[in-house]
Amino acid sequence: MNSFEYYNPTKIIFGKNQLSKLPQLINEFQAKKILLVYGGGSIEKTGLLNQIITQLSLFEIHLFKGVEANPEYRTLMKAVEVVREKQIDFILAVGGGSVIDGVKFISGASYFNGDPWEVLQRTTNKIFEKALPFGTILTLPATGSEANSGAVISRSEIKEKLAFGSALFFPKFSILDPTVVSTLPKRQIVNGIVDAYMHTLEQYLTFPSDNLLQEREAEGILLTLIEIAQGIIENPSDYRLASNLMYCANHALDGNLRCGVITDWSTHAIGHELTALFGIDHARSLAIIAPRLYEIKFENKKEKLEQYGKRIFQLSGENEEIAKKAIIKTEAFFNSLGISTNLNDYSEDVAFAPAVIRKRFEDRAWTKLGERQDLNPEEVELIVQKSIF
Ligand code: NZQ
Ligand code: ZN
Repeated sequence: MNSFEYYNPTKIIFGKNQLSKLPQLINEFQAKKILLVYGGGSIEKTGLLNQIITQLSLFEIHLFKGVEANPEYRTLMKAVEVVREKQIDFILAVGGGSVIDGVKFISGASYFNGDPWEVLQRTTNKIFEKALPFGTILTLPATGSEANSGAVISRSEIKEKLAFGSALFFPKFSILDPTVVSTLPKRQIVNGIVDAYMHTLEQYLTFPSDNLLQEREAEGILLTLIEIAQGIIENPSDYRLASNLMYCANHALDGNLRCGVITDWSTHAIGHELTALFGIDHARSLAIIAPRLYEIKFENKKEKLEQYGKRIFQLSGENEEIAKKAIIKTEAFFNSLGISTNLNDYSEDVAFAPAVIRKRFEDRAWTKLGERQDLNPEEVELIVQKSIF
């Protein structure tokens, strides 16, 4: 097993009826003024917002509503103004990956002198050096953002979507109550399943390894997601299924799977470009790119694809045949959830995308893609080209 360091300080509080712990969790940080950040209003409709406000009656609370799916820089900068003006000392994110990522950005940007977008662009050496403490209440199992220190922020006016992260951005705590799944639209449940599945594959479909436990952990998540997918889509109120979905999504990106593992993440890097250009849901961007990327990088990935095919889809036969069928099975799984893997189905004007995305990776010299760092801009163009059919 490769050497590794593992650090994850986020306290996870998992299960039903955990909100009464909120005041004590925040009190640990001697916070008085809280900015409660949320999305477009689902938590108003579900009643969660009122429940939280009731729990926080002894604190000074300021509400910041309106963080979009794929959180927008300009919106988050408005929240930064509120943090500074009201001298906020703790932020509470209530939502899915977008709200949580947005709060990570707000927490760092509030202490940053200058334009924090520079940190994400990496054109200068500037980094976030300090961050306000924040906690999260998760309402959508998908990204794992509630238990990691990364975030992705969008700027639709320049069609960019960029990531950042550092140990500053681990949430202090995250409350994970699986009953939130019951109000999710089917589209978001499907997104959650696919995002968690892809987080696992990004860390698994790389090199054959001696990390026997990490391999089986990854396979355990993939098999569980396949097992529960149709059931949770049909019955989001099923607590047994919802709790397993929530823990799969959490575990897929809380840092455990990558211990001693060389990871890929190129499907995510290319997928972000599709979201930036066409507004495609994050998980769907991954479903479009992954099968084509596995075909183009088949020589690199064929041994792990074979293991994946055997252990996840019980395929048998000749090795390369199994590896090829494993790609087909993966795409069929996404399609069975109602996700199209054809970029043509998401926008009328996609023909320009392959060349534009290639150019973006050419311009970003700091990006080294793939577990071997050998996925070049020409191959990126080909992958996007092949996703249009
Ligand atoms: O905004 P509201 O009204 O709350 O509605 C949201 C939103 O429209 C709705 N929703 C959330 N919880 C709900 C609910 N509706 C009803 N009931 C509930 N309980 O769902 C919609 C989508 O929410 P969003 O937060 O955008 O979805 P998701 O959790 O999939 O997050 C996607 C974002 O996370 C980033 C993605 O790039 C994307 O920007 N990611 C973050 C990662 C990380 N930090 O580790 C890793 C991922 O790979 C990903 O890149
Ligand atoms: Zn993802």
